[in-house]
Amino acid sequence: MQVKATSVPRILVVSTDRLLAEDIYRVLTKESFDVFLADAVDEAVVLAKHVRPHLVIVDAASAPEEGYALCRHLRASVAHRNVLVLALVGSHEIAERVAALEAGSDDYVVKPFHPEELLYRVKSLLVRGKAMPVSPVGGYERQGRIVACFGCKGGVGTTTVAVNCAIALRRLTSGLVVLVDADFHFGDVGIHLDLNAPPDVTYLLDHLDHLSPLVVQQAVQQHTSGLHVLLSPSSPEEARAITADQVAAILGVLSTMYDYVLVDCHTGYDDPTLAALAEADEILLVLTPEISPIHNASSFLHSANRMGVLPSAVHLVLNRANSNANIGRKEVERFVKARVEFWLVSSGRQIVQSITRGVPMVMGKPSHPFSEQIVNMARALIASGVTPRLQVS
Ligand SMILES: Nc1ncnc2c1ncn2[C@@H]1O[C@H](COP(=O)(O)OP(=O)(O)OP(=O)(O)O)[C@@H](O)[C@H]1O
Ligand SMILES: [Mg+2]
Repeated sequence: MQVKATSVPRILVVSTDRLLAEDIYRVLTKESFDVFLADAVDEAVVLAKHVRPHLVIVDAASAPEEGYALCRHLRASVAHRNVLVLALVGSHEIAERVAALEAGSDDYVVKPFHPEELLYRVKSLLVRGKAMPVSPVGGYERQGRIVACFGCKGGVGTTTVAVNCAIALRRLTSGLVVLVDADFHFGDVGIHLDLNAPPDVTYLLDHLDHLSPLVVQQAVQQHTSGLHVLLSPSSPEEARAITADQVAAILGVLSTMYDYVLVDCHTGYDDPTLAALAEADEILLVLTPEISPIHNASSFLHSANRMGVLPSAVHLVLNRANSNANIGRKEVERFVKARVEFWLVSSGRQIVQSITRGVPMVMGKPSHPFSEQIVNMARALIASGVTPRLQVS
């Protein structure tokens, strides 16, 4: 896995107007900024997660609705809390300029503009925002993908899915995979994997000021499958003290070191969980065919944007899919108004035994339909991997 050092401010330009984007690219690269282009909001969000721009230029003149939606998304996202946003607007009309600021931009430039004016605004924003080169950790950029597993209700099988999926990813890719137990109060990843002694996440919290790959190595445990695991704290006091910013920082550093960072989230909307969701590139939304989880899945999708989550990054996982004769996949999809992408069979005693023994299904019962479905899910995640389109050639 490559890790790239950075030294200059990174600017992401988001515009559907290709010619304009390339003009801006030329002006900014002449000044030696690192410039990245995206022509759609989805692409911009993915790219922003990977390159961690200091400044985003949003062309709200060419596509106002999408442009302002992106500004709001950036503002709502814990991960991009400090990003600077410069909006391009289509006229001097007060309504348009106010709309840009209301959507969360820090400044605006009216189109058409002289390149010098744009450059001046960019530089003054960067100076005002003190956005000189700051990277998540020691000048390294994010490379890996963060996959958060979020349950629509307690007990739907989120941890079982996260643990088995993490091992499947590790086996299929032979890459570096870490599983983070982010159910800080009641985390049981250690039980699923038969890892119970320290260290755990508290070691990282004690070293937050100088997080580095070396510090991470001291905090993670190595499972026999080759999976790395960051356990939750052993005491409620330590768990209670964990903040959203700490979660964002920890996931940030892990994503510079691992190909996949799997996060087993707490079921609920507390700040640390929202931070993990906002950091994630993909979210496995786990539910069972019962009224409450289905209802909660629907609310989750409805609020996704406000949580800084792209609905297209959310993948529905219907666990114990065959356990309710009255509610099948079709009924779930009709209610939630989204496709069930992954379907996992109910496996009764075998899964309970696998947890009791601390040997996940994909290892202990690899030819069980549940394990095969998990492996297929991991394959699909690997295949859907987004390679960000970096600088234009
Ligand atoms: N596909 C399945 N078939 C049968 N049992 C399952 C299946 N998936 C999970 N279970 C069982 O459901 C129980 C809860 O699983 P798990 O701990 O993974 O859920 P969770 O959503 O993480 O729960 P919590 O909200 O407590 O974190 C376990 O006993 C597990 O064995
Ligand atoms: Mg759990």
